[in-house]
Amino acid sequence: MQYMELGDSGLKVSRIAFGSMSIVANPTYSGVEETQAIEAIHTAYDAGINFFDTAPGYGNGAAEVVLGRALAGGLREKVIVADKINTPSLTAQDVETEFALACERLNTDYIDLYQIHWPKNVVPVEETLRAMENLVTSGRVRSLGVSNFGPVDLTEALGVCSLVSNQIAYNLLNRAPEFEVVEIMLKHNMGMLCYSPIAQGLLAGKFSNADEVPDERARTRIFASTRPQARHSEPGCETEAFEAIAGVRAVAERVGQSMADVSIAWLLAQPTVTSVLVGASMPEQVKRNAAAADVKLSQQDLDELSSITESVKQILGPNMDVWQTESRIR
Ligand SMILES: NC(=O)c1ccc[n+]([C@@H]2O[C@H](COP(=O)([O-])OP(=O)(O)OC[C@H]3O[C@@H](n4cnc5c(N)ncnc54)[C@H](OP(=O)(O)O)[C@@H]3O)[C@@H](O)[C@H]2O)c1
Repeated sequence: MQYMELGDSGLKVSRIAFGSMSIVANPTYSGVEETQAIEAIHTAYDAGINFFDTAPGYGNGAAEVVLGRALAGGLREKVIVADKINTPSLTAQDVETEFALACERLNTDYIDLYQIHWPKNVVPVEETLRAMENLVTSGRVRSLGVSNFGPVDLTEALGVCSLVSNQIAYNLLNRAPEFEVVEIMLKHNMGMLCYSPIAQGLLAGKFSNADEVPDERARTRIFASTRPQARHSEPGCETEAFEAIAGVRAVAERVGQSMADVSIAWLLAQPTVTSVLVGASMPEQVKRNAAAADVKLSQQDLDELSSITESVKQILGPNMDVWQTESRIR
């Protein structure tokens, strides 16, 4: 496993992080039994993963509870826990209340990285961030980050306080961050935490064509708006995406690695990327994904992967919201 400092936080995080969304039932995933989830978390730790990301939104607090149980008995102090706040208005009072509830569910009294899950623009972001800074000065939080912040929100937030990370959707099929936000993050020495790194299984080669993708995983703007669970109004780019996936498969076969590994290795080579949050609920997947940190691709392979997915990047454009046309990310 490789480790990297997250921004200037002093936190040395594993470049593969454990995403806890798929261990519990939610609109995208059906979840797994708690014993399997705990086994997946322990497998991750044994494979060198020290960075665990969760959120109250994953199964209504259930993922935090399972993570807390898995880390009980001595693991908590050895790992870096990232959690998020996501209330309708993100008031200063919400920060205090939600933080206390999160700690209770996680069975801890501190959180290493506390992130705003989605920008809300109801109260000024300064109110939210000042309250989060209080958690840092009182020793309850070690560093602050955001998630799903585009260029406008990020610039505003960085005017209030320093932030070590931005957690956003980034993978070979969703390259919107490259249009603007990467440059801002580079300037401020922020680390990118990439979610959906294998596009919810698409880049692991789980499906050979768009029709095979179940509706709950066909909600992004890659798929046509006619998909029953889509929340956007775009035609999608299913043909181009599956052509790109075939291209990624060909590169993976040539270099003798799995598609998921190659997709993760490409991400880890991109500027600002500190860690890749892989969602995996099976211990076997966790082991395989952890090993991806050690896969190195040549510059020629990296360039080829970028060019294979360029048409999808251009069709989907700079909207960093992978699910909605009316972007919640600005
Ligand atoms: N900040 C945010 O707003 C936000 C939003 C979404 C996600 N996240 C975080 O990011 C994490 C990852 O995102 P994600 O779940 O959307 O996407 P992902 O990591 O791209 O995809 C996860 C799914 O891909 C499949 N998979 C994983 N490893 C595999 C392998 N080696 N071979 C084949 N299939 C594999 C699994 O599907 P099966 O279960 O079918 O095997 C898994 O559930 C989440 O757990 C969450 O912590 C954050």
